[in-house]
Amino acid sequence: MDRNAPVGVFDSGIGGLTVAREIIRQIPEERIVYFGDTARLPYGSKSRDTVARYSRQIIRFLRTKEVKAIVIACNTASAYALEAIQAESDIPVIGVVNAGARTAVSSTRNGKIGVIGTEGTVGSGIYKEVMHKLRPGAEVFEKSCPLFVPLVEEGLLHDSVTDEIASRYLSVLKEKYIDTLVLGCTHYPLLRSTLRRLMGDEVVLVNPAYETAVELRELLCSQGLERDCQAPLDGERYQFYVSDLAEKFTRFATSILPGEVKKTEKINIEDY
Ligand code: DGL
Repeated sequence: MDRNAPVGVFDSGIGGLTVAREIIRQIPEERIVYFGDTARLPYGSKSRDTVARYSRQIIRFLRTKEVKAIVIACNTASAYALEAIQAESDIPVIGVVNAGARTAVSSTRNGKIGVIGTEGTVGSGIYKEVMHKLRPGAEVFEKSCPLFVPLVEEGLLHDSVTDEIASRYLSVLKEKYIDTLVLGCTHYPLLRSTLRRLMGDEVVLVNPAYETAVELRELLCSQGLERDCQAPLDGERYQFYVSDLAEKFTRFATSILPGEVKKTEKINIEDY
């Protein structure tokens, strides 16, 4: 395996850029091939079989770019497909759920942890399952927040509509006196200030993206796959592919990533 090959990162759309952003911050020397499945978003309301099939197609596409490792940046795809994909893959594949769960159990003081995510992620019970393995006595309260993704996609990050909806979603978790809240969906870190205000300063907000980038770095190191900083860059360091509407994606990517994203290529993912 070529240690200077890129890392593949994928999500159902733009949200996984919050994970790519964290990878760029923590391991800027790595190259990334990002795929956002903008034509088939949202994954959060789709079945396990559909999300697993989409994930396999994307992995076949990323393999054509000769990636050395894959990060499933989407919580729903991590919940539904990570285990099966890891079993089939001859290159390392990581998701975002284990990283988020690990951080939450090490952050909580009272053992009461909230998880917010899509209907798919919450319905799968994956966060609760992983947390109970790590800390059997933990009380985990999960709440799906299906309107958050469209609100973020519409750019309503600081808006009274978002405040109202967030307050309704979070009230059930506040009643449980959680001291830690996992932002178990790629889009939710972008609502951080609203969530922080509603939950109060004493509740730790866990962004799984951060810990995922830490896990990726450790994984690359342990397998001798870290990029050689001196190796020449063959083309762009970061490449972006989508299955629909490249312009909107490029604008969003430029707004949240360091540096301008000049080009996003639209591909037909059904070919893979
Ligand atoms: N990327 C998805 C996740 O993290 C959210 C958007 C969707 O539903 O596709 O679960």
